[in-house]
Amino acid sequence: MDSYKLARTALFRLPPETAHDLTLKLSATLPQLAAPWQRPYDPRLSCTVGKTDWKTPVGLAAGLDKNAVALDFFHRLGFGAMECGTITPRAQLGNPKPRMFRYSEEFSLRNSMGFPNFGMEACAARLRNRPADFPVGVNIGKSKEATPSQALEEYGALYEKLAPLADWVVVNISSPNTPGLRDLQQEGWLKDLFNVLNPLRQKHGKEIFVKLAPDLDDQVLRDLTTTLADLGADGLVATNTTHIPERGVGGVSGRLLRVKGHQKRRVVLEVARDRKLPLVGVGGFEDMNDVWAWWAAGGDAFQIYTAFVYQGPELLRRFENATHAFITRAKLPDLKTFLKLSPLERQKLIGAFGR
Ligand SMILES: Cc1cc2nc3c(=O)[nH]c(=O)nc-3n(C[C@H](O)[C@H](O)[C@H](O)COP(=O)(O)O)c2cc1C
Repeated sequence: MDSYKLARTALFRLPPETAHDLTLKLSATLPQLAAPWQRPYDPRLSCTVGKTDWKTPVGLAAGLDKNAVALDFFHRLGFGAMECGTITPRAQLGNPKPRMFRYSEEFSLRNSMGFPNFGMEACAARLRNRPADFPVGVNIGKSKEATPSQALEEYGALYEKLAPLADWVVVNISSPNTPGLRDLQQEGWLKDLFNVLNPLRQKHGKEIFVKLAPDLDDQVLRDLTTTLADLGADGLVATNTTHIPERGVGGVSGRLLRVKGHQKRRVVLEVARDRKLPLVGVGGFEDMNDVWAWWAAGGDAFQIYTAFVYQGPELLRRFENATHAFITRAKLPDLKTFLKLSPLERQKLIGAFGR
């Protein structure tokens, strides 16, 4: 049994949030705990996302290390990049506990956290000391009480403070646990948002990605993607967690999101590819089959959260080994060469050398 499986057996006896906080505290204090999994990045696996080169195509999704306390640990584990946040302007406690639930048999989680975080000043202090050479994006969100017009000011202040310290910024308007947040996924407000952010982006030059929810109709998602491309978004992240009413409040992630995440992402991807808008895939990725499907559809980089909780760092090795074996068998110099191909060309290579 690998050491993560052993640790997980113990951790899964604790309530999910206690296990999460304990693991994160240990990882932040002792980044050398990553040593058993640490190995040099293979430059052949790097992947371009907008203006940033990820070390590998596999990123850590937002919400696991909200306050960017364990960047060194996740860097050593071999993530290709990570997204910290969601960060709000001031520290917030989030919703009352319990607010994180495991569905172990279904390899899924449900959370209704409500953005507990230490606020943007604390995050800025962390990012000032981030490890060199590890791509980090920062995910920003409005405070619980902010009205839509106050939210505009907040996103402006968050970008101004955190963009200079990160490689890219993700505007979160898709978590199900902050009142009114998902209502911001509409054209009028987004226009106002980009009016606020455009001059700041000119000043700091950091790209603005927008993270979308999976609980939107296909046509709404297509229109939203078109609107965001027209407004000048630099990229998208899809998807956030999904609300499943029978399961209770909050958003569900992992295997229970897998099919929906993949389907909704493909809808976004079709428009995004047409508009040359980078799209980071997230939601239900748990093995190479998800990755082949994502790449065959034309997607590039992706992020994981829930599958990482269930499978641990070995999952990164599995992705890496399979990708490496694939490009070697397909006689490609590197992953970037593969990701420049059309979906049709990719499908042929995956069919011949992938699975
Ligand atoms: C406990 C938990 C907390 C999360 N917190 C955030 C967050 O603060 N901001 C955000 O954009 N997404 C957050 N997410 C969503 C993840 O980033 C990701 O979009 C989602 O979990 C789907 O990916 P997965 O199926 O690999 O987990 C959270 C997810 C979980 C499970």
